[in-house]
Amino acid sequence: MRNVISEKLSILNQSHLLRYIKELSAAEQEQLISQIETLDFSVLHETGADEKRGHIEPISALTLDEINKNREHYRKTGIEAIRNGKVGAVLLAGGQGSRLGFDKPKGMFNIGVNRELYIFECLIQNLLEVVKETGTWIPLFIMTSTDNDKDTREFLEQHNYFGYSSDNVMFFVQEQLPTVDLNGKLMLADKGSVSTAPNGNGGWYSSMVRSGVLKTLKKADIEWLNVFAVDNVLQKMADPCFIGAIIESGMQSGSKVVSKAAAEERVGVMCLEDGKPSIVEYYEMTDDMINMREADGTLSYNYGVILNYVFRIENLNRMLNAHLPLHRALKKVKCLDTETGNVIIPDEPNAYKFETLVLDMVKLQDSCLPYEVERSKEFAPVKNKDGVDSVDTARELLKLNGIEL
Ligand code: UTP
Repeated sequence: MRNVISEKLSILNQSHLLRYIKELSAAEQEQLISQIETLDFSVLHETGADEKRGHIEPISALTLDEINKNREHYRKTGIEAIRNGKVGAVLLAGGQGSRLGFDKPKGMFNIGVNRELYIFECLIQNLLEVVKETGTWIPLFIMTSTDNDKDTREFLEQHNYFGYSSDNVMFFVQEQLPTVDLNGKLMLADKGSVSTAPNGNGGWYSSMVRSGVLKTLKKADIEWLNVFAVDNVLQKMADPCFIGAIIESGMQSGSKVVSKAAAEERVGVMCLEDGKPSIVEYYEMTDDMINMREADGTLSYNYGVILNYVFRIENLNRMLNAHLPLHRALKKVKCLDTETGNVIIPDEPNAYKFETLVLDMVKLQDSCLPYEVERSKEFAPVKNKDGVDSVDTARELLKLNGIEL
């Protein structure tokens, strides 16, 4: 096997991966060879060029005003679905949170000031509100990745799942993809392993299926999955009104959206692409699109996504093997310098990571309901150490919502 691998690496111009193999024990050598055997080499051909987009048009949303008029009705429908066990929640917590610069899973970050208040705790508190409202435990699936799985499980266990029922919490681990340096070379994390990174948040459903947690779903008869990011501390999950509105609309999926703060805000917005629901990233929009307005003066591309979607399982199964574009992101990756054998902790981005994105799943749906929520009540992302979408801005928003820090 070793010869086959060595030949393959030589053809691909990646022989440096075996440079230190002779320094390893027999068991370590075997480990390295079997890791290389399972690597997805297709990343070597990824140029990061965006897929060609179809015809983009504005989409309308269910606005706050409309929701408020029908709130009780939607709420009742949503509560009934939750009580009948039709709804599961999926927390995407496999990311590396490199912008925040916190070396533990992001959910373990303490956002409190005078007391401990962890990001996981904020999210679970919000979900517990729905448990209280419906009298039903909602199955909570937590996606982790190779490097943060153990810490995440141990942390939640130590904190008694912040009051959630552990019987209703299930973990699954997402897949990894190799990282590639700026010269197109795969990287070593150390002498005995190739550097890999989580494969993005778009693979959550296939990872769920592969891990087997889905069997629990089948038993539970779940029809809808609400998937959301770990890093919005005001995130409302399994929101009965949101779920009820999707069911009442007859649509196949839904996306929580917020009205843009300004035309230039750097946020992906909901749109129609070739007549189907989709998301266009801010950097894909022309100035005309950014500034286009409807007759009533509102921006035509007004509804920013906040990574809180509801999908119908039936559709997710149908699109399980569908192609999702692989996005390439320039990041700082700790690695081994294969020339010197020393570990490098880079100051500047030195590598590409490859990720599929959950937002690309939207255009595989036949229909999607953009559902407007109040940004100051539901959107407090913790992305950066300081500045926009940082710990400070999230703290301000938590305070605004009466949460003691
Ligand atoms: P981000 O796109 O902000 O990525 O994740 P990140 O890795 O957390 O942070 P940076 O870019 O390195 O600073 C949005 C959501 O998707 C999850 C994250 O945990 C977060 O909830 N995610 C991201 C995954 O679950 N897996 C991934 O591979 C990437």
